[in-house]
Amino acid sequence: MNEHDIRKSLSDLPLQGLRFYEQTSSTNDVALAWATDGALDLSLVCAEEQTRGRGRGSRHWLTPPGVALAFSLVVRPKPEEVSSLPLFSALGALAVCEAVESLGLHPEIKWPNDVLLNQRKFCGVLADAVWLAEKADSVVLGIGVNVAPASVPPPDELNFPATCLESEAGRSLDRLSLLREILSALLYWRALFSSDLFMLTWEQRLAFRGQLVEVRGEAGEGRIGQVEGLERDGSLRLCSPGGSTFTVQFGEVHLRPVV
Ligand code: BTN
Repeated sequence: MNEHDIRKSLSDLPLQGLRFYEQTSSTNDVALAWATDGALDLSLVCAEEQTRGRGRGSRHWLTPPGVALAFSLVVRPKPEEVSSLPLFSALGALAVCEAVESLGLHPEIKWPNDVLLNQRKFCGVLADAVWLAEKADSVVLGIGVNVAPASVPPPDELNFPATCLESEAGRSLDRLSLLREILSALLYWRALFSSDLFMLTWEQRLAFRGQLVEVRGEAGEGRIGQVEGLERDGSLRLCSPGGSTFTVQFGEVHLRPVV
């Protein structure tokens, strides 16, 4: 991918700016700096390679050159979006699902926002907020997609099984079209942000629904439950083996199927 082709491919989307890098540290870090410096709503940072890509919980996110998608969108939350900031990362996951479904694949969302194919992760979403005087001035929505096999990290760097789109689709894919599809799905779902349809579609795409999973918080404490669905605020609702309902809030939570 190069800047000229990206601009051409995205020309009919209402993006307000584009910064493209052959190599950068982290598109989220670049976008955060740009947001602080006045980037408009829907400004996009895109890179062929990241040298310090970040995942959730300070994990490293690998983006080798030319085999993945790594991009970050600056979003200036509208007044009606401010109360649902934690849902922005789900917006990214939903958009990726729709784009990937158009390839004939069947993605699922591992709550809150990892995207899986055949129970293996191929996409992660990282939302960072810029706060000004206790108000969310902007949200940087970073999306990383493993496209070609060389984008899949070695097993010893993984904390959940991983895959890539080309292995799942069994053919090579055009990263530029995929980027376009994801961004246009993202704009579509942003118009429906936090609506009943948004929540229902997210819930229908949840991985492990009806299955037993273990949810483990940062402190290492684990709970087992059957995945039921989502609460209105996006937290996950489960049913314990004893039959009581409990919810898990956003935060650094690891979710694993119990086999
Ligand atoms: C995760 O699954 O832990 C989230 C991974 C998010 C990776 C993307 S790649 C583009 C953007 N830049 C980053 O440094 N991280 C996000």
